[in-house]
Amino acid sequence: MISSCQCFFLILKFTIIKNKLIEKAEKVLDTNFREVGGFSIPCEGLYPFQWNWDSGFIAIGFAHYDTTKAKREIEALLSGQWENGFIPHIIFHTDSDSYFPGPDFHQSNLHPLASKNHRTTGMTQPPVLGFVLKELYDIVDDKKDMLNFIKLNIDKVYNNHEHFYTHRDPNKEGLVFIYHNWESGTDNSPIWDDIWETMNPPNYKFERRDTTHVDAAQRPSNREYDYYLHLIEIAKQNNYDDAKIAELSPFLVQDPLFNAMLIKSNAALIELYKLIGNSEEKIKTLQQWQTKAIKRFNEKLYNEKLGAYVHYDLRNEKQIEFLSSSSFAPLFAGIPNKERAEVIVKTMMDKFGGEDRYLCASFDPDSDRFNPKKYWRGPVWINLNWLLYKGLKHYDYTNEANRVKEDSVALLERFGFYEYFDSRKELDEPGGYGGNNFSWSAALFIDMLKR
Ligand code: DGY
Repeated sequence: MISSCQCFFLILKFTIIKNKLIEKAEKVLDTNFREVGGFSIPCEGLYPFQWNWDSGFIAIGFAHYDTTKAKREIEALLSGQWENGFIPHIIFHTDSDSYFPGPDFHQSNLHPLASKNHRTTGMTQPPVLGFVLKELYDIVDDKKDMLNFIKLNIDKVYNNHEHFYTHRDPNKEGLVFIYHNWESGTDNSPIWDDIWETMNPPNYKFERRDTTHVDAAQRPSNREYDYYLHLIEIAKQNNYDDAKIAELSPFLVQDPLFNAMLIKSNAALIELYKLIGNSEEKIKTLQQWQTKAIKRFNEKLYNEKLGAYVHYDLRNEKQIEFLSSSSFAPLFAGIPNKERAEVIVKTMMDKFGGEDRYLCASFDPDSDRFNPKKYWRGPVWINLNWLLYKGLKHYDYTNEANRVKEDSVALLERFGFYEYFDSRKELDEPGGYGGNNFSWSAALFIDMLKR
C-alpha cells in the first residue's frame, strides 16, 4: 500500500522527469531553428532545409513557449508559396550540399508561377497548415494577437486549398491526387510497391546524401530512388503543369492521409473565418468543398473487407488494399460516422495494438512487406501518433487515445527524440531510427504533455 506521502513524492518525481524532458524537447527545437530565414530544419545533416508539414507540426511545439518562433515558422513557409497558391514540400532558403536532390535537380522555376523569393521543389506535402493555424489559436493565451496573425495569413491557406480543388481533382469529385510518393509524406511505404512494378525508370547516376547520415538499412534503396527521380523528371518535362501530370504520371494516387489533412484544414479555416468575420463567401465555398469531399471519401476510400480506409490508385483505377497508419488518420478529420469509427478503431487495435507493440506501426505488422526499421515501411512516427491520439479522443475512445499517447511518450523517453521508432517492445538494441534530435518528435511531445 502506498501512503499519501509516498504518493506525493512519486508525483513530484514524475513531474520533475517530465519537465526535464520538456526542457530537452525545447532545446531540440531551439537548436534546429535558423535565425536567418526564420525556419526550422527537421534535423541536422539529413534534412537541411524547410519542409512543409514538418513546419506545421514544429509551429505547434513552439506555440507552447515561443509564439514569435511559431509565427516566423509559418511566415517562412508561406514566403515560398507560388503565385497560384501552391505550397511546395521543400523551401530551399539556404544552400547545402548535405541533401540530394537539391534545388538544381528540382528546378521549380520551370513553372511560370513558381516562387520568385525562393527556390523550392515542384511537389507538395500533406496540407496541415489550416488546422495548424487553429491549433496555434487554441494553444496561445493572447488570442487577439494570434487572430491578428491569422488574419494576415489565412487567405494564403485558402488559396492553397482552392489550388488543390481546381488543379488536383480532375474528376471534380472532392478528392485530390498526389503525383509523387514524397507528396504523401509516407515516402517509401509498401503502398507504392505495386505502382513501382508498372514503371521501368533508367538507372540514374546520382550521389545519395541521406545514407551518409543514416544507416542505409533504415532508408529507401537506390532502385527506389530511381522511381522517385523518374517521377520528378516527368513533372519537369511538363513544367510542373498539374493537368499534364494528371495525364501522364504513372503515380497518381488519392491518399487518405493527405485528403484527411485537407478536410481537417477546411474545417479549421471555416472556424477561423467565423472568428474573423465578414468572410461569408469563403465559408460557403469551404463548406461546399467539405460536404463533397467527406461524402466521396467515405464512398471511394473505405474498404469493407479490411475495415479501414485505403489509398486509391487513380492511374490504374483501383483501391490499394493495404492497412497503414494512414488508414486510421481520417478519425482526426471526423470523416467516419460513429459506426464506421468503431470498426476502424477495432481494426487498429486488433492489427496494430498487440501488447507486445507500441502503437502505431506505420504499416500492417502482419504483412510480409512490413519492415520494423525502414522509414515508412513499419516504424512508429510521432506525427501520425499525434493525429491518431486527437482523432481517438474526438470519438471518445479515451483508453485507446491514452494508449497512443503513453506509447509515444514511452518511445521518446526510452530512445530520445528520433525520427521514427521500432514498434516492437522486446528489443535488445536501440529502437530509435533515422535522424536524431528530430524537430516534430520534440514539438509534438511538448504538445502531448502540455495539453
Ligand atoms: C527525404 O529526402 O527522404 C524526404 O523525406 C523527402 O521529402
